[in-house]
Amino acid sequence: MDNKAKTVQDFVSSFSYDQRLAVFDVIGSIAHVRMLVKSKIIPAGEGKKIIKGLNSILIDINKGKKLLKEEDVHYAVEKELIKRIGVLGGKMHTARSRNDQVALDIRMYIRNEIRVLIDILSDLEKSIAAQAAKNIKAVMPGYTHMQHAQPVLFSHHILSYAWMFERDKERLKDCLKRVNILPLGSAALAGTSFNIDRNYVARMLSFDGISLNSIDAVSDRDFIIEFISDLSIIATHLSRLSEELIIWSSSEFDFIKLPDAFTTGSSIMPQKRNPDVAELIRAKTGKVYGDLMAILTIMKALPLAYNRDMQEDKPILFNAFDTVMDCLNVMIPMVSGLEIKPGNMSEAAKKGFLCATELADFLVRKGMPFRTAHGIIKNLVNYCIKRNKDLIDLSANELKTFSKLFNNDVHSLLKPENTINLKKSIGGTSSSSVKNQISSLRKILKKI
Ligand code: ARG
Repeated sequence: MDNKAKTVQDFVSSFSYDQRLAVFDVIGSIAHVRMLVKSKIIPAGEGKKIIKGLNSILIDINKGKKLLKEEDVHYAVEKELIKRIGVLGGKMHTARSRNDQVALDIRMYIRNEIRVLIDILSDLEKSIAAQAAKNIKAVMPGYTHMQHAQPVLFSHHILSYAWMFERDKERLKDCLKRVNILPLGSAALAGTSFNIDRNYVARMLSFDGISLNSIDAVSDRDFIIEFISDLSIIATHLSRLSEELIIWSSSEFDFIKLPDAFTTGSSIMPQKRNPDVAELIRAKTGKVYGDLMAILTIMKALPLAYNRDMQEDKPILFNAFDTVMDCLNVMIPMVSGLEIKPGNMSEAAKKGFLCATELADFLVRKGMPFRTAHGIIKNLVNYCIKRNKDLIDLSANELKTFSKLFNNDVHSLLKPENTINLKKSIGGTSSSSVKNQISSLRKILKKI
């Protein structure tokens, strides 16, 4: 082969990355050949030999043996089969094309990875629930606009992430409904003139249904776009959690200590423990978004049916999945190993007039319109700022000069723990609500 031909051959080859589909390719082929036998398209004896050959390839792949390089994994499996059983191996490709074959392989791959992801997301939720249960007493400032808003339990705050990951699992399960449709039998684009039994293949390979338009079946990559979208949302959630871990571990906040194994030292500043793992998760999110943009752009305006452009779906798909898995694999032990500093959190919760809304609510309960109460408390806060005082420092008499409705009960509202425990609404931050929240979450996690 001259150099030019070799360059082109390398350029069109997907083998370096689509080898990852080898197991699914062989399993799909075994089901296909079984169907060809059942439908009397190839004789049973020949089918048996082909399946035996394919099984021996499967065993070797599972042992870690590599296929020889070909244009793509489909050719590599076929070549290997012919090497093992002779030209008869060429019958395997009857009534199919690489176009429906590759669509089958990717669908089998993704449904597998969806299950892996759902399991690991559950593990992450469990480690969050464990931190929430362990630190149920820790009080911290709750933020809006990154400003002190109202006091909340740390457990309540961290559990937000568990619900995000729970939704991620729901999204993946929904995506699976569209992934788990058998495209095989669509052949190149038009279907096949052989009398095949697609439902039989679907049953053997545990698909929930079969595609009903062969052109759509070979040109559809929506399920990859959808899967990478789901991965992108997971990455978004991981990046938000990472960002908070980074902020909380800074000297300014000092709310948590990251486990030593998840920080690194500086080459020049001996005192430093940098939150590199969390920073890298935050950055890798960008790569996953890049994969989403790439697959959308590859598919944009692509005419029907199969085009070779679609081969480029795979490196993107694999990168997005691997990146999110890598991040999850480090996030779980990082969350489990977090050390919370409740003293610093509750000190911070005393600053910033976090109980101001509580005082307004107090006046509202005494019959004052909320808007009027809001104005009074605003004046009260300004009064404190001028005198460099916190609300808790105000005497009952000082409070009474702002409204006659204030009485001695009001003081207990100025303690963050007390205002927290008033938030007993379902999903609120009181410790009883948060304990219920943890048990609801654990019940969901047990079901899976
Ligand atoms: N390697 C190809 C891909 O991943 C397989 C399908 C090739 N089909 C074709 N008509 N050239 O898309």
